[in-house]
Amino acid sequence: MLCLKVPTDDAWATVAMRDLDGILVDHAHCELKAASNSLSLAARYPADVEIVQALTDLAREEIDHFQRVLSELVARGRQLGAPPIDDYAAALRRAASDLPRAPPHSPLVDRLLVGALIEARSCERFRLLVEALEHTEARGDLHDLWTDLFASEAQHYRVFVDLAVRAAGGDREQTIARLDWLAGVEARIVVGLASRGEAVRATIHG
Ligand SMILES: [Fe+2]
Ligand SMILES: [Fe+2]
Repeated sequence: MLCLKVPTDDAWATVAMRDLDGILVDHAHCELKAASNSLSLAARYPADVEIVQALTDLAREEIDHFQRVLSELVARGRQLGAPPIDDYAAALRRAASDLPRAPPHSPLVDRLLVGALIEARSCERFRLLVEALEHTEARGDLHDLWTDLFASEAQHYRVFVDLAVRAAGGDREQTIARLDWLAGVEARIVVGLASRGEAVRATIHG
């Protein structure tokens, strides 16, 4: 589970498997948002060229992921459609931006760690989808897609953590402590969203 402190609700994979078109639409938008978040971080924090290079490499990979998911939607005769509401990412970014911070932490360090957490949660859910598909007759291309993306998002998690350490002046110990603390915030958001009394949704997050 990488750094995550709570697992996804057991009912989630069942709901997602019943609405594969819905989860693919949400997933496609998640990939687009991941690409645009990496580009916006690169534009906003241009001081360290290595971080800019790594973020733009990430954006390129997320666009490739988006196009793979889009192709799957097209093959299924579906449109991309509007993005479902993503309360999860909004709540996590809001919580991180409100945190008190002192060096070596900075807004960039926290935004990179939020990126790591979103990758970790995506990764956890792709694994659940792969496992669920292994129990169905029609594994098809989705099994390959989500197996590949599980590995890729795990790698992105590590890239974001390493970039956060770099942005914190190389202080890995403090950065991992901050990640652990933010993972507690993420866990409360996941539990809070799951206990709103609404039906579990076929979305990658929230
Ligand atoms: Fe991705
Ligand atoms: Fe990613």
